[in-house]
Amino acid sequence: MRRVAGENGPTAIGARLAIAQSPCQSAARMNRARAYSSGPVVIAVDGPAASGKGSIARALARHFGLPHMDTGMLYRAVALTMFRFGGDPASEFEAVRACEGVAQIDPTDPELRSEVVGSIASRISTYPGVRAALMDRQRGFAGQAAGAVLDGRDIGTVIAPNATVKLFVTASAEVRAQRRVRELLERGMPAHFEDVLIDIRSRDARDSGREAAPLAQADDAELLDTSEMDLDEAIEAAIKLAENKLAALAKA
Ligand code: DC
Repeated sequence: MRRVAGENGPTAIGARLAIAQSPCQSAARMNRARAYSSGPVVIAVDGPAASGKGSIARALARHFGLPHMDTGMLYRAVALTMFRFGGDPASEFEAVRACEGVAQIDPTDPELRSEVVGSIASRISTYPGVRAALMDRQRGFAGQAAGAVLDGRDIGTVIAPNATVKLFVTASAEVRAQRRVRELLERGMPAHFEDVLIDIRSRDARDSGREAAPLAQADDAELLDTSEMDLDEAIEAAIKLAENKLAALAKA
């Protein structure tokens, strides 16, 4: 089990949910980020649901040899805790309390990725109290000496506003719905395109329209629209954008 930097207890929220690489993988590639910068390289990847940002962030982490955190998993773990133990997503108080149970969630639990849990996560992530309860873990991870890749909705704007590289990954709602349907079917879960599209649109509206840390492209983020790309192309484009940015910073 890996700890999130800056935290003390192995059972702290995010410790089990930090999707990080194995040490041998990182060691082999650690120099790639160091080749550009003597300081820690932090890559922020934001974007709407099913934009491909998670796969892109994982690929960037592998490429540069950096630890990776999927911050959406923290919100999903709160949501799953409430779903399992009967918390009311309409209550900010209950959602904040559920943040304490997040470390008990198995990060490989397939239910974390279910539509119902994603939808609850989108609701409870509008609460400032929930965002505050999960913030230190994310900032601690972003601030570790090794550098980091984090993906989510507010990484470049709130969690790591000084990130070395910021990407905003997006795609049309229809393309994202198609990808989500494929993903759910592959996992043996039921999925209907129209339902998924409606859910994606309402999640977009909630993620972008909320007052607390809404989904937004940071002014200094590079936009990557993956609507016309397959995953390999999107990853290649993201790596190129990140390498160009790092090279430009190294020259400056
Ligand atoms: O990326 P995801 O679909 O797994 O995220 C689930 C929900 O969590 C999403 O609807 C919004 C919320 N979230 C957030 O508000 N801020 C983040 N940094 C990550 C996720």
